[in-house]
Amino acid sequence: MPPNRTDRVARAGDAWRPRFHITGERNWINDPNGLVHWDGIYHVFFQANPQAPVWGPPRWGHVSSPDLVDWRRHPLALVPEPGGPDADGCWSGCLRVVDGQPALYYTGVVGADDANRVESVCRAWGSTDLTTWRKDRANPLVAGPPADHATGYHRDPFLWRDGDLHRMLIGSGSGGSDAHGQVLRYDSTDGGGWTYRGVFFEAPRRLEGMNLGQNWECPQLLVDGDRAALIVSCSDFSAEHPLMYVVWFVGKLVDGRFTGSYGGRLDHGDVFYAPAVTTDDLGRTLVWGWVQERLPADVQASVGHAGALSLPRVLRFDGHGLTTAPAPELAGLRVAEVEPDELGEQLELSVTVEGGEGRAGWQLRDGDAGLDVYVEADHVVVERRGAARLRAPLTSARPVTLRVVRDGSLLEVFAAGVSLTTRWYATSVGPAGVRPVASGGARTRDRRAWLLRDDAIA
Ligand code: FRU
Repeated sequence: MPPNRTDRVARAGDAWRPRFHITGERNWINDPNGLVHWDGIYHVFFQANPQAPVWGPPRWGHVSSPDLVDWRRHPLALVPEPGGPDADGCWSGCLRVVDGQPALYYTGVVGADDANRVESVCRAWGSTDLTTWRKDRANPLVAGPPADHATGYHRDPFLWRDGDLHRMLIGSGSGGSDAHGQVLRYDSTDGGGWTYRGVFFEAPRRLEGMNLGQNWECPQLLVDGDRAALIVSCSDFSAEHPLMYVVWFVGKLVDGRFTGSYGGRLDHGDVFYAPAVTTDDLGRTLVWGWVQERLPADVQASVGHAGALSLPRVLRFDGHGLTTAPAPELAGLRVAEVEPDELGEQLELSVTVEGGEGRAGWQLRDGDAGLDVYVEADHVVVERRGAARLRAPLTSARPVTLRVVRDGSLLEVFAAGVSLTTRWYATSVGPAGVRPVASGGARTRDRRAWLLRDDAIA
């Protein structure tokens, strides 16, 4: 008897599940939070709803790794507390060391819908191994948006040190008839009492042909000498997928405010959102983002795991902007080098494209629903039947090495300083056919393929 739709979805759902990307033990996750390299171990926290494969009152999940390859699970770090300022959710935030002690700064939420929700800033103090957390008795440290602020958006604290001061950024929006994204700033001398200091940076909703949304979430600041970059996640209620994409601005800090211009997208796919950055002991800036799902609601309701974090990526200031590359440690995910033809759900492909103006790359086959990923002119392109083409502008000329990492339904493409993250829900379970494609004078060389670990996180 042929399998019915439910069986097919169950089998495919299992095949779609990422095996070496960070996911929840079960059910839903979204944003990475509280990233830190602590005593030689990478700790990643994340928004989690262990109760269902959909967004729900967020807790903070927690995993750690010595090498960015093998991940170990820890108990939930934060859970909402009835009657407290986080009764309806412990939303996104960061980890900082204050007076020698690890502290999570997070968004406490009371009120379930947009109209009555209060978004405050809360703090929890950690044990030295970062596995147990005690909420600060002074919570909320900031009770909600500044009095004169029109919108309730007041979330995702990001802290940095500036001389003797602790400074804090908060994601927000202007509200009103020309609603646009804003980042607000607070200052503190002790990390506990905060004073509002106004708008740190804002930009019109329409800029450089982009829609930058009505609200900005998860602001992240990178400072490199006298240069700075500000990363924000753009949300727009009226968009088909309201959590749209991530952009960066480049400029400098002047008297605790950012001045700068639009730089570009941090990832050129259609599912990467709410990234967080940290600096590790090697002096690198690492970034993880949330990789959203694109499943119909009824199908998503039946999967065991929804949402994942991207692979860790290294961010660099290069010339005038930010470049992205997968962390070199990820070579440790490779189990075996194989011929690039018939490959499984966990695989990596690499090819160097040179010559001509034409296109060259790979075709991944899934019955009739294949996916092409190739370099064309000065872009990387991902093309699927029935879906909009995704395009990423390359930051250097050919030859260009194109890397494709597939982990179940999660696909990340890296080339010449840019990344493109998407989902590919293949319907035929099992190995996908792969073949190189080249036309119009473009050529491929050094075609390689690896099977990757399917047990890097349990
Ligand atoms: C981004 C976001 C954050 C918020 C969190 C709630 O995806 O909307 O702004 O803190 O998710 O889960």
